[in-house]
Amino acid sequence: MRVLVLNGPNLGTLGRREPEVYGTRTLADLEALLTARAGELGVQLRCLQSNHEGQLIDWIEREAAGTDAIVINPGALSHTSLALADALRGFGKPVIEVHISNVFAREPDRHRMVTAAAAKAVISGLGFEGYLAALNYLATSGA
Ligand code: DQA
Repeated sequence: MRVLVLNGPNLGTLGRREPEVYGTRTLADLEALLTARAGELGVQLRCLQSNHEGQLIDWIEREAAGTDAIVINPGALSHTSLALADALRGFGKPVIEVHISNVFAREPDRHRMVTAAAAKAVISGLGFEGYLAALNYLATSGA
């Protein structure tokens, strides 16, 4: 199984960004954790991060043929981007949306979930563990 992990805007600054919300571990820490777990699960992993909506959409389109599933944290685009939701729908294979924080316990603007409607499942509030759970599910469920 080939899984693409996409992180959206502002997730490149994990570790420095609002550590009381997102913790002190970095994106590199997250990707190392995922790469190690992928190795154990026999999953082929590619991790990409961008602050740009169009770049994320380009990657989804370009990588679609060689990817079996996507794990995505769209950051704030989760709450606004119909374009990203359309790209995820167009991908046509399993998508799991992950949020480090529990967005439903935060400001009302974050309760509006636009890209989630294009996902098979959403995991919100489990920290980095949420990405691992998504990977685990994809590798073991035959999704
Ligand atoms: C986030 C939650 C979003 O509301 C926020 O804009 C982010 C991170 C999370 O992982 O908890 O950038 O997706």
